[in-house]
Amino acid sequence: MKNDLLTLKNEALKELETLAESADIEQLQQEYLGRKGRFTLLLKRIPELPKEERPAIGKLANQAKEELRKAFRAATDALTAKAEAEISVFDVTLPGRRPPLGHVHPITQTTEEICRIFVTLGFRVVQGPEVELDYYNFEALNMPKDHPARDMQDTFYVSDNVVLRTHTSPMQIRIMENQPPPVSIIAPGKAYRPDSDISHTPMFHQVEGLLVDQGVSFGDLKGTLTTFVHQMFGAYTDLRFRPSFFPFTEPSAEVDIRCVVCRGKGCRVCSHTGWLEILGSGMVDPELYRVVGYDPESISGFAFGMGVERIAMLKSGLDDIRLFFENDIRFLKQF
Ligand code: FA5
Ligand code: MG
Repeated sequence: MKNDLLTLKNEALKELETLAESADIEQLQQEYLGRKGRFTLLLKRIPELPKEERPAIGKLANQAKEELRKAFRAATDALTAKAEAEISVFDVTLPGRRPPLGHVHPITQTTEEICRIFVTLGFRVVQGPEVELDYYNFEALNMPKDHPARDMQDTFYVSDNVVLRTHTSPMQIRIMENQPPPVSIIAPGKAYRPDSDISHTPMFHQVEGLLVDQGVSFGDLKGTLTTFVHQMFGAYTDLRFRPSFFPFTEPSAEVDIRCVVCRGKGCRVCSHTGWLEILGSGMVDPELYRVVGYDPESISGFAFGMGVERIAMLKSGLDDIRLFFENDIRFLKQF
């Protein structure tokens, strides 16, 4: 019996040395020390021994069992330590972790696309102040103080004569003041109005356009804007010029495109008209030429101003402008 015990113990220890998986070690432990394990079965035979031999064998058996348990524990601990050590070693074969890359805001993307189209048509990009003199925002554009046309754009006043610009049209005056004709510029930038609903925000973006030269006609305005619409929305997009009024253009027209959502059948987005306004435009009012010192008799020109959010919404089929400014990364990531 004593020999059987020692043989069994040595067998177990020998086998343990060959194992490298903790699951295998656990299995081996069951095989020897489990309820029906080989060691357990051997011990069950102790009562068969002569009475005087039992205490010594019992003691030996307990020692052997304890020794085995310790060996199993040590083997498992060694494996765990080895695994932990491996984790902390830098594995040069792992693929690198890319830092998340951002991209420009959808409104900036749309502004850039608008500018790119006009640049290919020969326009130059200029920028001007968002905090603007009343003079450039209203007065020089044929909207004297107390003129009713100001009501629609009653705005954020910084002081009596300084406002947050309500449109990019002041750039028309600033540019003409600074250079003789011919002029062909576009001026992207922010504008501010006391507006807030699903298609209006207090801060929004416009792109202004101005072309002044000898013999510029309404046909040039129409051709330029038609080319723009076809490049921006696709060559088969219908558009129409609808008579309108602006104090700084005469005649004036607003440009509508066929609703991109319902294709003209009428829906919520186009207020069931089948058309969507994308910009205001017209022939520069001769009064502006007088203000900047141009000779109204020898030149003519056109101007236009479009809402960038409007165009971005139409391009992506959105019906709530506020999505652009909530800064929800799940929304912005889609552009
Ligand atoms: C103007 O601002 C004129 N300055 C446009 C113009 C320029 C006419 C040159 C003639 C010659 P209007 O107020 O319609 O026009 O605004 C033009 C566009 O700006 C609108 O069609 C709309 O797309 C956008 N817009 C106006 N207010 C807001 C707002 N609160 N939020 C978002 N977009 C706006
Ligand atoms: Mg309008």
